[in-house]
Amino acid sequence: MKTVAVVGSQWGDEGKGKIVDLLAADADVVVRFQGGNNAAHTLVVDGEKFILRLVPAGALHDRKVCVIGNGTVVDPMALAEEIDSLQSRGRFQDDALLRLSFDAHMVMPYHRAIDRAREARLGKNAIGTTGFGIGPAYEDKMSRMGLRFDDLANFPAFTAKLERNVREKNLYLKSVLKAKPVSGTEILAQMRKVRGRLARYLCDTSVYINDAIGAGRRVLFEGAHGVMLDIDHGTFPYVTSSNCGASAVFGGAGLAPGKLDGVLGISKAYTTRVGGGPFPSEIKGKLGDALRVEGDEFGSATGRPRRIGWFDAVLARYAARLNGMWGLALTKLDVLTGVDPVRICVAYTVAGQRHDEIPPSHRRLEKAKPIYEDLPGWSEDLTRARSLSELPANARRYLERISETSGVRLAMVGVGAAREATIVLENPFLV
Ligand code: GDP
Ligand code: IMO
Ligand code: MG
Repeated sequence: MKTVAVVGSQWGDEGKGKIVDLLAADADVVVRFQGGNNAAHTLVVDGEKFILRLVPAGALHDRKVCVIGNGTVVDPMALAEEIDSLQSRGRFQDDALLRLSFDAHMVMPYHRAIDRAREARLGKNAIGTTGFGIGPAYEDKMSRMGLRFDDLANFPAFTAKLERNVREKNLYLKSVLKAKPVSGTEILAQMRKVRGRLARYLCDTSVYINDAIGAGRRVLFEGAHGVMLDIDHGTFPYVTSSNCGASAVFGGAGLAPGKLDGVLGISKAYTTRVGGGPFPSEIKGKLGDALRVEGDEFGSATGRPRRIGWFDAVLARYAARLNGMWGLALTKLDVLTGVDPVRICVAYTVAGQRHDEIPPSHRRLEKAKPIYEDLPGWSEDLTRARSLSELPANARRYLERISETSGVRLAMVGVGAAREATIVLENPFLV
């Protein structure tokens, strides 16, 4: 395959960053097509840890072009800081390796202020957003008042639009949300500065990507979040504000359907979610706490403890159907070492009735009780395994059942955070 999308199959943090970084070795171009700096993709390369929020996870390879597509929402200050941080660590030195879409919408300080004020007012009903202004930025895109990088080209016209937006947002912040207004003058000063910093990256990214494909180059699309956080298909309203699946590649990167060859889903060998919302296979108590520590399950974007659960094959089938998954990369198998039994949620019961699919009303998911299949665990350290045959028989059996119950072929298995701690069964770029 020449064009491959990597998408999260759970509630985010599945290890997409690690797998994209690994696959980037065989790609020429890596593209982000949705989301913003609510994403946090962790890469461990040569013993060094990097957390990428907006820059695609091809950035740690020497000559891969990283593209931020039109479907993303980009906080310009956060992007500038992220590039500076990578460059200060001796990476991503060449400006020609980053392309930023003119059409991407900018996340502004008033978006963050609105996001945080709304969450504070919701109290115990809060969604648990990252607080980075993602929802309000996508709202402005849809209501056609958002500001795009393209607007920066004509600064007087940009200033007038910004002033209009600041007036409206401050009215809303003060009278409705009872929150502090933002300073239009400060935002303008920030934008004047960042404009010069980011102008060099701007390009028609759809043309760039399509030309690259036309020239026979390999393109990797890096999804953010996960299908259960998808605005349409996730556990609404406990979701993010974009489509997070493979279908978002077309709108978010300016690519025609048919030009995407395959989709690789990413799941953990168990499940996590950050923030509120239903989670049928959640493990509460000691075991959940132990796995949180063992798997270092604290949000890389916000530091919040992640909720922990068993692998949920119902979600995996759902994600496979929505994304047309060619294969599944299963990460963090090593974290389950020492757990006995290991469980797979194969179906739910809701009000006494069995559901093999996610119940049609997501409200019912709140009431879903998991039906588990238990398998014997293993105690051996897996972190040095590089082939299936180096895994204990019980770990292999667990993988087999995950693949069978999810209905997707296993393409990769993660046994550690480092790039090389991966069993590659099938590389999508080499099939
Ligand atoms: P993403 O948002 O999907 O890219 O995932 P995150 O980076 O937010 O969270 C995944 C975490 O698991 C990161 O800390 C990774 O370094 C780590 N990780 C990824 N794959 C593995 C694996 O196979 N084993 C272990 N132990 N850690 C992993
Ligand atoms: P990556 O790409 C995990 C969750 C937030 C919250 C909900 C809405 O690292 O997998 P938002 O700020 O997007 O409006 O928050 O979505 N969320 C994520 N959870 N990983 C992510 O990204 C997430 N991006 C958003 O925790 O519940
Ligand atoms: Mg993450």
